[in-house]
Amino acid sequence: MKKMIKNGTIITATETFNADVLIDNGKVTAIGLDLPSAGMEVIDAKGCYLFPGGIDPHTHLEMPFGGTVSKDDFESGTIAAAFGGTTTIIDFCLTNKGEPLKKAIQTWHAKSKDKAVIDYGFHLMIGEINERVLAEIPQVIEEEGITSFKVFMAYKNVLQADDETLFRTLVMAKKHGALVMVHAENGDVIDYLTKEALAAGNTDPIYHALTRPPEIEGEATGRACLLAGLAESQLYVVHVTCAEAVDKIAEARNKGFTVYGETCPQYLVLDQSALEKPDFEGAKYVWSPPLREKKHQQALWNALKSGQLQTVGSDQCSFDFNGQKDLGKGDFTKIPNGGPFIEDRFSVLFSEGVKKGRINVNEFVDIVSTRSAKLFGLFPQKGTIAVGSDADIVIFDPEIERTISVNSHHMAVDYNAFEGLKVTGEPVSVLSRGEFVIRDKQFVGKPGMGNYLRRGKHVQLSNRAKVEALQ
Ligand code: URP
Ligand code: ZN
Ligand code: ZN
Ligand code: ZN
Repeated sequence: MKKMIKNGTIITATETFNADVLIDNGKVTAIGLDLPSAGMEVIDAKGCYLFPGGIDPHTHLEMPFGGTVSKDDFESGTIAAAFGGTTTIIDFCLTNKGEPLKKAIQTWHAKSKDKAVIDYGFHLMIGEINERVLAEIPQVIEEEGITSFKVFMAYKNVLQADDETLFRTLVMAKKHGALVMVHAENGDVIDYLTKEALAAGNTDPIYHALTRPPEIEGEATGRACLLAGLAESQLYVVHVTCAEAVDKIAEARNKGFTVYGETCPQYLVLDQSALEKPDFEGAKYVWSPPLREKKHQQALWNALKSGQLQTVGSDQCSFDFNGQKDLGKGDFTKIPNGGPFIEDRFSVLFSEGVKKGRINVNEFVDIVSTRSAKLFGLFPQKGTIAVGSDADIVIFDPEIERTISVNSHHMAVDYNAFEGLKVTGEPVSVLSRGEFVIRDKQFVGKPGMGNYLRRGKHVQLSNRAKVEALQ
């Protein structure tokens, strides 16, 4: 049956207006004032915003890491995402050296296929470059629609790749229209600093942050930007946390390099002092790069506002405090790295960003949805509310006040890193391709209703900072 959403305020990355939205066969088929609705299911969105569904470009669901597996899988993780207003995720498919890329992709299809309740795509990790990998990459792009590749510059002896691998991946990406993503920290220096800390008996969670200082993120970010410029390729720096890294991205963009940056809600609202909580509770806040001193938050907000950073991803990689994080009691290097953010990314950015006047509501949509659709080959199917686009729509009440808590979240883990944070605004109902996943704050979807997304090639975003510099 056709659906008609009435009385809402549509917000896109560029417009704010009141109109009815007609949904037929999973797509938005008309937008206009006072559209006829006889014989349709009418949804009243009075007092609410209609946002395009959030796109989370950075998740790790059911990912083997740190001697365990991240707790939220494609079922609990995508249900939590939907509650939070996210209707598309792009998860990182990890590869193993010496194994075909396609084998890893099959593993990720098997994890997700009958579980996801929202649409999903994969980025693919490149851990080595050789003739086999080079031959497989064009096939992966054509057959799987995977058009973004991730290179880790940290996690020595686990995920870390060398600069040759990064450079050759950049060259390959330029040739085939893909986007290269980097985790930018200097893994070699971190390896030295962590060994030194342990040898000195410094084993508490706070040493996770102290052995990965912002200079090390700035160095790796600058190196990756420089290599992207040299290769005349395109680069996306994931989870940017600090002024040092923002400066390197801004410098590269001002030179005209095609470089983008993402930050995460945790870096915008939490700080390094969380790692000092007593009774090992600091372990709840151990992920990489680490939380920073509070002063870095302003640099991140400024960069989002000015367009030097384009997106906010969750970096969802959740582990229970009891039974997983505690693997690192007595040795911070054994705390599994990651946290639970897939559910709260959207609302925290709305509340801390829009409600606190740091970004406007259209910039919010751009950051939480539209730019990821554009960067990762999903626009205009995803990332906007327009005739012909998928009817991925969040009916969002911008005035509800609530407190984030493990007691009300839908993620599978036993804590929430934003516990006690008061936010304004909440998704009331969420539609994925025209079907309700969340209706009046209740889950009404079904595992397996999410589709795998074959994505298009990378298309350059306009470089707003570059244009301003030329004026
Ligand atoms: O600590 C983190 N961020 N865990 C997930 C893997 C990564 O580095 O993104
Ligand atoms: Zn990372
Ligand atoms: Zn990550
Ligand atoms: Zn309402």
